[in-house]
Amino acid sequence: MHFTINGATLNAEPDIRASLLDVLREHLGLTGTKKGCDHGQCGACTVLVNGRRINSCLTLAVMHQDDDIMTIEGLGTPDNLSPMQAAFVKADGYQCGYCTPGQICSAVGMLDEVAKGWPSHVSADLARPGFDDDEISERMSGNLCRCSAYPNIVDAIREVAAADTGLAEAAE
Ligand code: FES
Ligand code: FES
Repeated sequence: MHFTINGATLNAEPDIRASLLDVLREHLGLTGTKKGCDHGQCGACTVLVNGRRINSCLTLAVMHQDDDIMTIEGLGTPDNLSPMQAAFVKADGYQCGYCTPGQICSAVGMLDEVAKGWPSHVSADLARPGFDDDEISERMSGNLCRCSAYPNIVDAIREVAAADTGLAEAAE
């Protein structure tokens, strides 16, 4: 099988029962994506598939041959951090860092959902959901942090959102 991951074509011959998470980590060496619970509870394995955030432990790799997959390694590099990665560093949005790749991928996907006007469980107006700290917390509730870096994670996401004019317009 060939996969399009972070803009490159990578080949692997996974077991048809292998999760996307296991293929990323064990076959393709992309260990930035973490395994926490392996059953959809923690969000550590979050990646972007065709721009949407998903739990890579809950999907089979063989379902994604024609998809555009983005992992934390594709968002930026240590020498060239993406805005969200840089914001997490600046806001100290982590302690052990185990949940951080999933948090960052999820945050990128989440801001895209906000920009598209998708409401969340706490949105007062389903037609114009707005965007505040309650929205950030709710929309990121699928990503757990055992170190409880949540306030700083919210700070990082808020900073990136504030710099995004599309989001500012969506929040008005
Ligand atoms: S490892 Fe996938 S949600 Fe926890
Ligand atoms: S920084 Fe340790 S689990 Fe989140």
